Amino acid sequence: NAIVGGVRRVLGQVPAGWLPGGTPDPLIQRRVSLGTQQPRIDGPDKVRGGARFAAEVPMDGLLYTALVHATIARGRIAELDTGAAEAAPGVALVMTHRNAPKLAVPPPIGMTSMKAAGNNILPIMQDPEIRWNGQTVALILAESQEEADHAATLVQVRYETERARTRFEEAKADARTPDSILIEKNRLLKGNAEAALTAAAHRTDAVYRTPWYNHNPIEPHAATVLWKDGRLIVHDATQMLNGTAGSLAKVFGLKDDQVHVSSPFVGGGFGGKALWDHQILAAAAAKLAKRPVRIVLRRSSMYRLIGGRAETEQRVALAADARGKLTALLHHGYSVKPLHSVCDEQYGLTGRSLYACESFDIVQHHLDLDVVANTFMRGPGEAVGTFAIESAIDELAHDIGMDPVALRLRNLPDRDPVSGAPHSQSDPAKAWQMGADQFGWNRWERRSTRREGEWRLGLGCATGTFPYARMPGMSVRITVDDEGRATVASAAHEMGMGTATVQRQHAADRLGLPLERVDVRIGDTSLPFATMAGGSSQTASLGAAITAASSKLAGELVRLAGNDTPLAGLRANDLEFAEGGLRCVGDPSRQESFASILRRAGRRQISVEGESSAPLEMLKFAMHSTSAIFCELRVSEATGEVRVTRLVGAFDCGRILNPKTAASQFRGGMIMGLGMALTEETLLDPRNGRIMSASLTDYHVPVHLDLPEIDVLWTDIPDPRAPMGARGIGEIGITGVAAAVANAVFNATGKRVRDLPITLDKLL
Ligand code: MOS
Repeated sequence: NAIVGGVRRVLGQVPAGWLPGGTPDPLIQRRVSLGTQQPRIDGPDKVRGGARFAAEVPMDGLLYTALVHATIARGRIAELDTGAAEAAPGVALVMTHRNAPKLAVPPPIGMTSMKAAGNNILPIMQDPEIRWNGQTVALILAESQEEADHAATLVQVRYETERARTRFEEAKADARTPDSILIEKNRLLKGNAEAALTAAAHRTDAVYRTPWYNHNPIEPHAATVLWKDGRLIVHDATQMLNGTAGSLAKVFGLKDDQVHVSSPFVGGGFGGKALWDHQILAAAAAKLAKRPVRIVLRRSSMYRLIGGRAETEQRVALAADARGKLTALLHHGYSVKPLHSVCDEQYGLTGRSLYACESFDIVQHHLDLDVVANTFMRGPGEAVGTFAIESAIDELAHDIGMDPVALRLRNLPDRDPVSGAPHSQSDPAKAWQMGADQFGWNRWERRSTRREGEWRLGLGCATGTFPYARMPGMSVRITVDDEGRATVASAAHEMGMGTATVQRQHAADRLGLPLERVDVRIGDTSLPFATMAGGSSQTASLGAAITAASSKLAGELVRLAGNDTPLAGLRANDLEFAEGGLRCVGDPSRQESFASILRRAGRRQISVEGESSAPLEMLKFAMHSTSAIFCELRVSEATGEVRVTRLVGAFDCGRILNPKTAASQFRGGMIMGLGMALTEETLLDPRNGRIMSASLTDYHVPVHLDLPEIDVLWTDIPDPRAPMGARGIGEIGITGVAAAVANAVFNATGKRVRDLPITLDKLL
C-alpha cells in the first residue's frame, strides 16, 4: 500500500540496529471496553437526521453551483460564450479561465507531512487548455440549484481538438517504470524466476485485467465555503482535513491558520474524499462573488472530477514443484497513472508478502493517459493485485490437482519472504481453518451435485491481504476535568467506520474510566493536527497518540498532586490509571482520583497533547493482515448470470477492538469486492475520452438483491507491536473477494475469466 511505502521511505533514515523495544501495550491484555461490542456514537444523530453533512450547513446568502465540463480529451477552448448564462434568471456569476482568480497548482498529497491532499495536480481554470474530458470549463453561481443547473446548459464552448492519449494499449509503447516515493524498489528480483519457471514441474502464466472503477460513496462530494475576514472556511466531506486545509492555503496563497476545514460527518470516503478541483473552484467563486457558496457534485460530475481506481493489466506466472512448493513468482504489469496523478495502483506489492518462494520477479509500469488522475480506492494495489495472484494460485492448484486451500497452506511464509523480517503476528492458517469450517469447504468438495436446473454451482476461495500502517505526527489533546470526565480531541475523521466510538473505548480503558465518562471530538482542523483516515492507519495512529498523551497526563497529574497525596514520591512509571484516577502499580491502596487532584490544586481541568511517534515497528517487522475468503455461487447456463449465494471472510488482523463496527467494515469491503468482481466498470470512449458509464444507472454497484449471506469471522490474536494489539481493518475486506468469485465461476463453468468484471457475456 502507498502509505506503507511512503512511511518506510522516510523512516529509512532511522539508525540501523535500532530495535523497537519497550513492553507490549498493557491494554492488549486488559479487556474492559475494548474488544466489546459497542454501538456507534454517531449512530443516533444519523438516524434522527441530526448529523449535519457538508452540503447541509445552513448559511445566509448562499449561492449554488453548477459545472460545465469539457467534452474533448485534449486541446483548448477556442470560443466561449457565457452571455446567455450570465443573463439567465438567478445567476450571480459565471466563472471561467477568463475571470477566475490566480490559483497555484495544488500540492500533491504528502505521504508523510500530511499537509497536502491534492490528487489531480494540474492548473485549475487558469488557461484555455483542456487536459481531460470532463475538466471544468465554466462554473455557474446562482440563487438556487435549479437556476444554476439551467444556466449551465446555456454556456457555449467551441474547442480546438488535439490528438489525445486515451488508449491503454497504445500508451504501453512508452510506459514509465519510475522509482516512485511509494515503491521502495520498483523492480524486485530475487533468485532466478525465469529459470525456475522453465524448469518447473507445474506452472501457470496468464494475463489478468481489471477495469477503471469509480468511487460511489453514498454522500456525493460536497462543500459549503465562506470567506470571512480574509479566512477561508470550508465545510467539507473529507478524509484528510489538514491535508485539505494545507492544500487550500497553498492554492490561495494563505497561511495555514487562515484556512479552517470542518468535516464532522462523512458519508463514505474509501480513498476518494480528499482535495479535488471542486473545493478549489467553489472557494475561488465565493471569493469573486463575495458570498458563501455550496457545491454538490452530481454523480456525473463525480465521475469526471474525482479519480477512480486505475485500470491494470497484470501478468502473473507461478512455478511449483511436484508437491506444490512455489519456486517462482513473477508479477509484471501496467497500470494507468497520468503524469498529474499521485497514486500508484500498487498491485506489485501484493506478491511480496503472501507466499514463501525461492524466486521473485516483480515490476510494474505506469501509463500516461489524458484522463482525470486516478486515486486511492479501498485496498489500492492489493484489491486488484490479489485478483491476479489469487486467480493464478487457483489455476496452479487446478494444474497440480491440489486443493487450493492446501496449496496455499503449503506455501505460507514463516517470515517476510523478501526481506526476511520476522512477522509481528501472523496466523493465516488459523483464518483458513476458521473460514473453511464456517463455509463447510470440505463437505462441499465431496458433494456431487454441481447443477440445479439451469444453474451450475461452484465454489472458490482466495486470500486477501493488507499491510499494517501507522502514521507519525497524529496528535490528540486529552482534557480531564474536576468532575472526573475526560475529553479526547483530534482533527481525525469519521467516515462511518466508527473512529470516535473505538477511540472512546480506547481512552476509557487507557484512563481507567467508564465509557460514559469519556467524550471524543473529531472532524475539525481547529483540533490538534491529525494525519488522515487512509491506508487503514487511523486507528493505530490515533491509538498511539492517545497512548502518548495519557503518559504525559500521568506525569502532569502526579506533579500537580504534590506531596500532600497518597501518590507522593511516586513517578509516572510507578503509576497506572484506574478507578477514575492514578494508582500505584505495586500498592493499590495508594490512589487518588482526577477530581481530587484537580480540586486540591484549584484547577478546573488539565489538558495535555500527545503525538504518534515514528512507527519504527514497521521497519523491523513484517506486519501484514491476511484473510481467507470463500464464495459459493451459481451461474445460469441460459443467461450467463452469476448469483453469489454465500460469502465467508475469516480475517487475521490482530485484535478486534469493536466486533460490531469491525463486522461492518469487513462486510462492506466484501460487498465492494463483489461489485468489483461482477458489475462495476467505468467505460471510456477512446475516441474522445468521454466516460460512458458516469451514473449509477450505467455503473452498477451491488444492491441488496445482489447480496448473499455474508459471514465474517476473525482470529482475534493481538499483534504485540501494534497499539492496542490491532492492525487496521479498513481496507482488507475488499481484497481477495474478486479472485474468490472468479475461482468459483471457474469451478462452476470451467471458464477462467481473467478480465473483470465477470459479466454474463463472458460466460456464454
Ligand atoms: Mo483508503 S483507499 O486509504 O481510504
